[in-house]
Amino acid sequence: MTTNLILKIRPFTQNDIEDIHLYASNPITTQYMLWGPNTIEDTQVFLNYVFSHYSKTPITNFEYGIEFEGKIIGGIALIVDYVAQSAEIGWILNEAYHRRGIVFQAAKEMIALAKSLGMETLHATADSRNIASYKLMEKLGMHHVSTTIHGRFNKLTGQYDLDQVYYELKLK
Ligand SMILES: CC(C)(COP(=O)(O)OP(=O)(O)OC[C@H]1O[C@@H](n2cnc3c(N)ncnc32)[C@H](O)[C@@H]1OP(=O)(O)O)[C@@H](O)C(=O)NCCC(=O)NCCS
Repeated sequence: MTTNLILKIRPFTQNDIEDIHLYASNPITTQYMLWGPNTIEDTQVFLNYVFSHYSKTPITNFEYGIEFEGKIIGGIALIVDYVAQSAEIGWILNEAYHRRGIVFQAAKEMIALAKSLGMETLHATADSRNIASYKLMEKLGMHHVSTTIHGRFNKLTGQYDLDQVYYELKLK
């Protein structure tokens, strides 16, 4: 694993669409996600949703890009519930950059953001088959709270027939 790469975690812009689409249209990268693989129209809809949240006060959906060597290579999201003082984290990375510590590093930045916003807990969910995602949660210090059998939507069947893991980290 490479640590301390020079990453920039920043809001997406319209110019990022091709970089985003590289990972969002990849059937392997998106296999355990609730969406995807995207068409370019789907990716534009995603960007429009993201932009609509940047102008809100206070911001609840911090949907940011991970920039490396001048390109967006992934996305990281912090969805904040100010009332519950709880935030959900999510991530995706272009497969050419996997296993270099990139999302671990990006997630640390988002956890610092969650703390600075006064969040008490951080949580994340994943398809129970998504070993990379839940191992990353564990490396971040998150602990396994539950596995819900048939608790996750399956985009291929349209049913809740997948199992979902839920992880949490106390921030205070
Ligand atoms: C999950 C994902 C974002 C991880 O990103 P990444 O930058 O490759 O992860 P990192 O290199 O920061 O890995 C950090 C730790 O996570 C764990 N990990 C990451 N990938 C793993 C894998 N394929 N198998 C097992 N553990 C893995 C390891 O503990 C790793 O630490 P180590 O390399 O020191 O052992 C990436 O695999 C991905 O984009 N997957 C597809 C999209 C997706 O499923 N998103 C989550 C939806 S819930």
